[in-house]
Amino acid sequence: MTKKAKEAKKPQPKGKGGESVRILISRTRLQRRITEMAREIRKDFPGEPLHLVGVLKGAVFFLTDLGKQISGDVSFDFIAVASYGLGTHSSGQVRLTRDLDSSIEGKTVIVVEDILDTGMTLQYLLRVFEQRKPKRIRVAVLLDKPERRIAAVHADYVGFTIPNEFVVGFGLDYAERYRNMPDVGVLSLGTKSSEA
Ligand code: IMP
Ligand code: MG
Repeated sequence: MTKKAKEAKKPQPKGKGGESVRILISRTRLQRRITEMAREIRKDFPGEPLHLVGVLKGAVFFLTDLGKQISGDVSFDFIAVASYGLGTHSSGQVRLTRDLDSSIEGKTVIVVEDILDTGMTLQYLLRVFEQRKPKRIRVAVLLDKPERRIAAVHADYVGFTIPNEFVVGFGLDYAERYRNMPDVGVLSLGTKSSEA
C-alpha cells in the first residue's frame, strides 16, 4: 500500500480530512430503548440491589441514563481498560487502567458497556470479575456489532444490534472526539480528495 493510501485509511485529525457523521440512532430512540432495558433489568431481579459497573469512558452516558431508569436499590462503580491499537480497530490486547472502588463480592453486578465489538474487552473484564466472587454477573451493552465478534461472549441486554460500521456519539469516541454527540452516528473519515 502506498503511503498516501495508508494515510487515507488512517484516522485523520480534526479539520484535516472531511470527517462526517451520519446519524444512525437518534437521541429519542436511544432514550426509549434505554428505558425499556432498565425495565427489563429490574423485572429480571425484582427487589434486588443492583450494582452497575460502567466501563470508562464510553459507557458513561449509557450508565447514567440507564441507572436513572432502574427503580429501587441501585449502586454504581467504574472501571477503565485500555486496548492496545490505534484508530478504528482495537488489537485485542486489553489491560486494566483503573480498578473499581469497592468489592463486588456477593453482589448482583451489571456490567455496562458502550459497544460489544470483537468481545475481547468484555471477555477480559468477565474473567477479572468472576474471580471476585460476585453473586452473579449480567452484561448490558448499548450497541452490539455481532459481525466482528472474536471472543465467545454475549450480552444479556442489548440496546441495538448494528452493522459493521464505526460509530461515534453518546459516549463513543474517535480519538477522544464525538463522545458528546447526543445521537449515535456512523463516522466517515473521508479525505479532501475523496469524500466518502
Ligand atoms: P471489543 O473489545 O473489540 O469488543 O471493543 C470494545 C471497545 O472498542 C468498546 O468499548 C469501544 O471503546 C471500542 N469500539 C469498538 N467499536 C467501536 C465503534 O464502532 N466506535 C467507537 N468505539 C468502538
Ligand atoms: Mg469502551
